[in-house]
Amino acid sequence: MNKVMRALAVFGLGAVLAGSVQAATDEDAIRDRIKPIGDVCVEGQDCGAAAAAPAEAAGGTRSGEDVYNASCFACHGTGAAGAPMLGNAGQWAPRVEQGMDTLLANAINGIRAMPARGTCMSCSDDEIKAAVEHMVNNSK
Ligand code: HEC
Repeated sequence: MNKVMRALAVFGLGAVLAGSVQAATDEDAIRDRIKPIGDVCVEGQDCGAAAAAPAEAAGGTRSGEDVYNASCFACHGTGAAGAPMLGNAGQWAPRVEQGMDTLLANAINGIRAMPARGTCMSCSDDEIKAAVEHMVNNSK
């Protein structure tokens, strides 16, 4: 093999290697392009808002405010179904008088038009408690 041919052979091998690296990169790019936009929404979640709560995606504990916004606001922000509204001290005072344990038990088990866990089936007891505290603390 003369010098020129060897150079061509090396160059050719290089081109093949470069080509396959390029192909792998394209595949990654395609995989990126076709992956789903959002996470799959699972049963029991309020898909719009809960999916947006960042702590949940990371497997952490959501703050009371996050839980409230995702699961409680629909009723407690509007008074829907007769729910005591956040910020309304008059509506909350007689409920707070029952004591935190009772409030929490009623939030977890549900009471009358208040659904169990405020429909947040993925919420831990601590997360429900934080949401109740968020409402109570902002309704004095
Ligand atoms: C579908 C509407 C709805 C949603 C969603 C909802 N609530 Fe309620 N909630 C109610 C209603 C209605 C009441 C009043 C029930 C009654 O006393 O008749 C209530 C009452 C409560 C009370 C007072 C219970 C008591 O002992 O007086 C707490 C605490 C509470 N909700 C917490 C929550 C929390 C925390 C969430 C979110 C995780 C939530 N709720 C979501 C409707 C809702």
